[in-house]
Amino acid sequence: MTSSIDDARRQTWSAGTYDTHARFVSDLAGGVVEWLALKPGERILDVGCGDGVLTAELKAAGADVVGVDSSPDFVAACVAKGLDVRLMDGQSLSFGPEFDAVFSNAALHWMQDAEAVAKGVSNALKPGGRFVAEFGGHGNVAAIVTAMRAIAMKRGGDLSLAHPWYFPAPEVYRELLEANGLAVKRIALIPRPVVLKTGIEGWLMLFRKPFFQQFENEAESALAETIELLRPALCDAQGNWTADYVRLRVEAVRT
Ligand code: BEZ
Repeated sequence: MTSSIDDARRQTWSAGTYDTHARFVSDLAGGVVEWLALKPGERILDVGCGDGVLTAELKAAGADVVGVDSSPDFVAACVAKGLDVRLMDGQSLSFGPEFDAVFSNAALHWMQDAEAVAKGVSNALKPGGRFVAEFGGHGNVAAIVTAMRAIAMKRGGDLSLAHPWYFPAPEVYRELLEANGLAVKRIALIPRPVVLKTGIEGWLMLFRKPFFQQFENEAESALAETIELLRPALCDAQGNWTADYVRLRVEAVRT
């Protein structure tokens, strides 16, 4: 059972808001989809499939694709598009060895129990099956995290709400995968500054609302102060905001 305090700390998702402020996430997935090198007829598991835009692309390319996500709103949006998407947390995958590949884009950094993810992925793959994923790597959104931490320190807030993510360095992630029956073929940290067409406020409220909500009636001023801290680092003279993304991309094979 969860309490209302847990609920307030939890990230929640709305397919509509995500589409407005974060469409770039699937738009920028070309590289990881290329690494997947899908062959028509392959059975693919898409972990943390979100609103299913990439799941639908994989299906259109000929895959027999199953998606999983822990957000009921995302799952409903996917099912409405006719996709086979199930409500399941990537940290408790319950599949046997039935997939040719497990794919994931921009989701695994939300799953702090990376060991549980690796075990579930490994169990879901046929021998020789591949795991191809991209997510936040070491140093991802470092300026944004640092600004929120500074605000939490100044206002007596909870620092952990400024960084609820898992952003591993390549060697750390390689070790984790190899300890779980996944031999790494290639792994790379890829800096990817992303221009935020709807600005930084939309990003912060979409991805870190619980951090600001902790300040209750001071939430708006905490948000305004965070934005001012970030402005010199992430906003150019024309008012364009860029998020300091760093991707970790990996391909591994089930041994
Ligand atoms: C990312 O895609 O790297 C990301 C998205 C939202 C929050 C943190 C990281």
